[in-house]
Amino acid sequence: MRVRLDDEDRQVDFGRCLGRALRGQGRVYLEGELGAGKTTLTRGILRAYGHEGAVKSPTYTLVEPYVTGGKYLYHFDLYRLGDPEELEFIGGRDLFADDALCIVEWPSRGAGWLPEPDLRITLTLGEPGRIASLEAFSDLGRSVLVTLSQEMAFDDMIIEQEREQQ
Ligand SMILES: Nc1ncnc2c1ncn2[C@@H]1O[C@H](COP(=O)(O)OP(=O)(O)OP(=O)(O)O)[C@@H](O)[C@H]1O
Ligand SMILES: [Mg+2]
Repeated sequence: MRVRLDDEDRQVDFGRCLGRALRGQGRVYLEGELGAGKTTLTRGILRAYGHEGAVKSPTYTLVEPYVTGGKYLYHFDLYRLGDPEELEFIGGRDLFADDALCIVEWPSRGAGWLPEPDLRITLTLGEPGRIASLEAFSDLGRSVLVTLSQEMAFDDMIIEQEREQQ
């Protein structure tokens, strides 16, 4: 599924819908170059759980935990991860095992250690704004895509949808 996010507000709104559809669980990996809008999308996801404050990429600390709306949300930024094994030392195993929502920027840096995602979202530059390409890897991921495709608010933003989801 591909979605046009013409400006930052739409990116945050889409994140909020995505957050709602996830219901506080799952692994969402955000791919895209520097400035692609990964943290902006994360801000929207966190808003779905009532977090109204700022969201900064935890570039140096690797992970920022949020406990909000009774859910555990972990926002990872692996840009500066030297070795995927570092995720073991910071207790990543427990965070991924929790009944939590894990959002990961720069998942490629953790390849080999990170478990498979439920959803992979690749952000690229649009004309204008950004394009989000969403791929599901589990039942949870597929159900989120179905929920999103049924959101009327996004009808005019969906560019492409897999045949079996229509
Ligand atoms: N859909 C959009 N349209 C236009 N601008 C956007 C959109 N989404 C985000 N931006 C802008 O892009 C810039 C970079 O966004 P953001 O920090 O979210 O990127 P990032 O992918 O997290 O970058 P990094 O890899 O450095 O962490 C911000 O100035 C933000 O306002
Ligand atoms: Mg970021």
